[in-house]
Amino acid sequence: MRQARFASSREKATEAAVEATESAVKENAPKVAETVTQEAPKKAGRGLKRTVIGTTLAVGVLVGYVYATDTRASVHRYGVVPLVRMLFPDAEDAHHFGVDILKTLYKYGLNPRERGNPDGDGSLVTKVFGYTLSNPIGISGGLDKHADIPDPLFELGPAVVEVGGTTPLPQDGNPRPRVFRVVSQNAMINRYGLNSKGADHMAAVLEQRVRDFAYANGFGDHALAEQRVLNGEAGVPPGSLRPGKLLAVQVAKNKVTPDNDIEAIKRDYVYCVDRVAKYADILVVNVSSPNTPGLRDLQATAPLTAILKAVVGAAKSVDRTTKPYVMVKVSPDEDADEQVSGICEAVWRSGVDGVIVGNTTNRRPDALPKGFTLPPTEQETLKETGGYSGPQLFDRTVSLVARYRAMLDITPNTPELIGAAAEATTTVTQVEPDTENVPPVEPPKPSDILPRKVIFASGGVTNGQQAQAVLDAGASVAMMYTAITYGGMGTVTRVKQEMREGKQQQQQ
Ligand SMILES: Cc1cc2nc3c(=O)[nH]c(=O)nc-3n(C[C@H](O)[C@H](O)[C@H](O)COP(=O)(O)O)c2cc1C
Repeated sequence: MRQARFASSREKATEAAVEATESAVKENAPKVAETVTQEAPKKAGRGLKRTVIGTTLAVGVLVGYVYATDTRASVHRYGVVPLVRMLFPDAEDAHHFGVDILKTLYKYGLNPRERGNPDGDGSLVTKVFGYTLSNPIGISGGLDKHADIPDPLFELGPAVVEVGGTTPLPQDGNPRPRVFRVVSQNAMINRYGLNSKGADHMAAVLEQRVRDFAYANGFGDHALAEQRVLNGEAGVPPGSLRPGKLLAVQVAKNKVTPDNDIEAIKRDYVYCVDRVAKYADILVVNVSSPNTPGLRDLQATAPLTAILKAVVGAAKSVDRTTKPYVMVKVSPDEDADEQVSGICEAVWRSGVDGVIVGNTTNRRPDALPKGFTLPPTEQETLKETGGYSGPQLFDRTVSLVARYRAMLDITPNTPELIGAAAEATTTVTQVEPDTENVPPVEPPKPSDILPRKVIFASGGVTNGQQAQAVLDAGASVAMMYTAITYGGMGTVTRVKQEMREGKQQQQQ
């Protein structure tokens, strides 16, 4: 009964609800229709809004990408450099960050690069070792110690990138902290002590780079493909893998190799050469780092000649059609006349092709501008052991380049060199001599036959005018390191632009 009553009252309630709903629907029907007709343009408006926002974002990202990846963007110098300095009070941390970020950005095609082919006008073209380089600017050894980033460095605009120095066995270098900034001077002091992952590691990295290049350029993915690229079949120098550019690889000895065992030292350099020379356009022999005890003593004529001869011999036996050129990097501190002439003698006697003048200095040069007093913290920093680098080196670099130029231009008439000149002549002159009618010919003078020694300048170059000054003093390439750490990723582009402007002003 209760159930029947409950059921009939539920039915009544349902009927009432249905009636109420119907009347509500009737009432609201015109309103709903109105709302629907109003929603349609709203939806269309929302779609348009989304499109506008999406397009703006996409354009913003594209503009941001184009701007941030252009070496001319001032954000690199005035935004990134101070930010990195603030985030990494330890200069070595900043160095690692810089290398890592450049490596990662390059992997994803987001690295800063020179746009618009500024070298294309040919105004900075120069000849080095028979190669025509797009410009005379280089990045010095030590910035890319383990050959992690030669390609992103090339994309910053230099024609020469030097990687290393590498040692035969891996070594840690000195304990940290070992790199210090002297911010008021845009300078640095470092005592890294040639930290290296070893020549085998560097050879593996460089080999992989060639393999990747060979594969990307249709040569295949095998040892033969690598060899074809190294033999020049890709039409690019085997080290840089880029037209108009050269890769230099720096080699050094291990700290534990005894300073007085010249045979062991030669073995160290030759070991490195045997591993990495295949992948280099230029081999650089480092005898000038101030942070490996005894290394600079190897600049004395006798040991230097022995080491360089060994390196030149090893470089000639590289399994590649063209052999790498060999340069020696010398110190700016061993600058007495007899030291410079002793080094030049070793260069001529060993057959090395050129000299990089110079490296960091053990001196603490006067502050710039003249009379400037360093803040107390920086005066303390100057007491740190290590090599000093930065703009204060510049004047000494120019004068040392000029002195090396003058001394290297005097080709000694030693029996060895007369022999070398005669050999060079006979390979050029293939014609049968007419012994009856031609008077006996004087043997060729080495100075007429042998190529001029090449000089690269390193030390304190920060702008286009200074780069031009070291070239005018007799260098073929002006290299930079510290200027890049203070000027950022656009430094090479800026320096080249300043050189171009300087040349234009001269022509007017
Ligand atoms: C942090 C740091 C590490 C360096 N490491 C090396 C190195 O491994 N081998 C080398 O020959 N020079 C090394 N250098 C010296 C530079 O290549 C360059 O010759 C020197 O700094 C002078 O040039 P700059 O005034 O343009 O920096 C290093 C310099 C700095 C600042």
